[in-house]
Amino acid sequence: MVRENARAKINLTLDILGIRADGYHEVSMIMQEIELCDTVELEKSSGGISLKMDVAKIIGGENIPCDEKNLAWKAAMAFQKYCGKNFGVDISIAKKIPMAAGLAGGSTDAAAVIRGMNRLYETNLTENELCKIGEQVGSDVPFCIIGGTCLAEGRGEILMRLAPIKNFSVVLAKPEGEISTPWAYKTYDENPAKTHPPNNEIIKQFEKGDYDAAFKNFYNVLENVALKKIPAIADLESKMLAAGAKVALMSGSGPTVFALTDEKNVKKISESVKDSGAQIFITKIC
Ligand code: C5P
Repeated sequence: MVRENARAKINLTLDILGIRADGYHEVSMIMQEIELCDTVELEKSSGGISLKMDVAKIIGGENIPCDEKNLAWKAAMAFQKYCGKNFGVDISIAKKIPMAAGLAGGSTDAAAVIRGMNRLYETNLTENELCKIGEQVGSDVPFCIIGGTCLAEGRGEILMRLAPIKNFSVVLAKPEGEISTPWAYKTYDENPAKTHPPNNEIIKQFEKGDYDAAFKNFYNVLENVALKKIPAIADLESKMLAAGAKVALMSGSGPTVFALTDEKNVKKISESVKDSGAQIFITKIC
């Protein structure tokens, strides 16, 4: 049996540069792995794929499919196909990351299956090969395979690893409601952003350790789209900032809002949103 931590991600920035011929959007985003994670266990089986999920800890988890529609299942199929072998695998996932939240909950389970099958079957594929398998499953899967802090370009699969940033504490607030990623991108096209995050400048500010300057530049172009559906995102951000967050922003296509802070302000920030109806998670940057 092998066990993998499937960690969530936040987008420190998210920019859209245009629409591609394949219908995807050309993006430029600074992605950050966080400690909040699902646990994925894999066991060899005589053939085929099976998937069990313990969803007791997440809201709406009973709606997650446990068949070939699940990204974890697709990841196992993509791994078998790449290796040209019918590697049987029984997958068990204990979920903690909320679904359709902008935290890559499904993509990170898929990434953990790919990393885990490489260990389980001792196939010794390189990180690059694992990412190639991952990109067939979803645009965020390669980042979830390598983790850390990265600039992600292309449709999200072209990764440049950045130096780790300071180990800030993270408070996540997931308001009620879900946002579908295809809906967010489609709605964005009707009203593209006029403001864009200066990702190259932010990377230089990280290198100098000038986090306060970098935080002022954080921006997610999908936030205005998500606000149309879930206005609570703006209230969560202002409350967290008023409670001392260094920065508060929506992650991915939303609707989760993250706040970065020193550990001493975690309690005050999480209490500032505790009556909002949002689910709160306290975690850290990896
Ligand atoms: O790659 P993935 O399957 O996770 O993407 C889900 C959907 O999000 C795509 O079908 C597309 O509608 C949208 N998307 C996009 N551009 C990206 C990533 C995702 O338009 N770079």
